[in-house]
Amino acid sequence: MNNAVVRVTAKEDRDAIVGLLAACPMFRPCEVAIGVEVLDEAVKSGPEGHYQSRTAFVEDAVVGWICWGPTPCTEATYDIYWIVVAEPHRGHRIGGSMLSAAEQEIRERGGRLAVVETSARSDYAATRKFYARHAYQQAAVVPDFYAPGDNKEIYVKPLQGLIPVCAIASAPSLQPEVHADDREKKA
Ligand SMILES: CC(C)(COP(=O)(O)OP(=O)(O)OC[C@H]1O[C@@H](n2cnc3c(N)ncnc32)[C@H](O)[C@@H]1OP(=O)(O)O)[C@@H](O)C(=O)NCCC(=O)NCCS
Repeated sequence: MNNAVVRVTAKEDRDAIVGLLAACPMFRPCEVAIGVEVLDEAVKSGPEGHYQSRTAFVEDAVVGWICWGPTPCTEATYDIYWIVVAEPHRGHRIGGSMLSAAEQEIRERGGRLAVVETSARSDYAATRKFYARHAYQQAAVVPDFYAPGDNKEIYVKPLQGLIPVCAIASAPSLQPEVHADDREKKA
């Protein structure tokens, strides 16, 4: 369970989101710089713009950010460009809430396919598990994409119609939900 609220990113959120990106050791400085560019563009253009940006708050503090947009030159494919949750707040379904909110908005805009890209590095193992929980399936691997030995993995999730049974089997998020708090109680 979490008590996070997810809202359209306002310009007042900007500096705290930049802080979230900069505090994430997995992101290289050049990735942070691109994230900030995307954030600034999203804040400038708002919900009518290309980049859609949402901020997660817990008790008025910024704890998460997600950004997505339609993939140029595709029919209703959407890229989820960024998702990050402040380290102390991870594992409380805030990332899941933001991802589900983004997917719902993409569906409402007629989006058909969500795409995420991530690294095969060991420090991204929990991130890959997070996407698997949400029924994202690996579609491609680009060897040595980010750096020698650092592959890019591309995951996709159909957002319209039925989700394949194999995706449900490998995605606990589509099965009866057990919250972290409940698991702790059972342990
Ligand atoms: C990936 C991320 C957004 C998930 O957000 P979250 O709020 O921790 O995710 P949720 O609580 O909804 O889901 C938890 C699941 O995510 C995974 N997870 C990823 N990082 C985690 C962390 N640091 N702590 C706990 N769970 C984590 C776990 O697999 C967990 O599954 P489990 O409950 O079966 O153990 C967040 O961990 C994060 O900001 N990671 C660093 C940045 C990043 O990798 N962004 C994506 C770039 S492609």
